[in-house]
Amino acid sequence: MKKIVAISGSLRKNSYNTLCLKEIKNLIGKETEMEILDISAIPLFNEDLKQNNFPAVVKELNEKLRNADLILIATPEYNYSVSGVLKNALDWFSRGDNPVFEGKKVAIISASISRFGGVRAQNHLRQILFCMDAGLINHPEVFISSAHTLFKNNILIDQHTKEILQNFTQYVITNI
Ligand SMILES: Cc1cc2nc3c(=O)[nH]c(=O)nc-3n(C[C@H](O)[C@H](O)[C@H](O)COP(=O)(O)O)c2cc1C
Repeated sequence: MKKIVAISGSLRKNSYNTLCLKEIKNLIGKETEMEILDISAIPLFNEDLKQNNFPAVVKELNEKLRNADLILIATPEYNYSVSGVLKNALDWFSRGDNPVFEGKKVAIISASISRFGGVRAQNHLRQILFCMDAGLINHPEVFISSAHTLFKNNILIDQHTKEILQNFTQYVITNI
């Protein structure tokens, strides 16, 4: 069975990015497994911490990412870039003898409350993933804009957005 491991760049309980990942999880069907990682316990990156050994939580998440056929990242846009928590996690995952993102298939989406849908954050994320030598799937591009208007009680109610996520999911699954 193919496995997708997903990271949300927002720790917020009702994060639109996390909700989009949950929507995708509901769409992928039985042939593919999907796990959304909890990155909230990752410590702030400090090179001293990795001198002897990586923190246990980083090791555990690294292993899950290593076993993934595809990594899916949903990023919010904070001040025209990715969130600090996402960058921090990626900095951890980029270190070590055999960095887990190298050559790994990675797909990205973004959701934001602005009408630009996180396009500027995605540009930064692409740059970071380029440096990490990830096998980025470049299309279809998904920018979920005005996210606060698309959900009711944490349920996606917008039909057009559902179709966008459906197409994206289908494309990603067939390209794993
Ligand atoms: C520190 C901070 C900076 C933000 N900067 C931007 C921004 O540059 N562009 C944007 O579209 N939204 C920005 N927002 C609003 C986010 O789109 C909004 O908080 C969104 O809900 C975050 O994603 P989430 O729902 O997954 O947590 C910012 C929010 C915060 C807290």
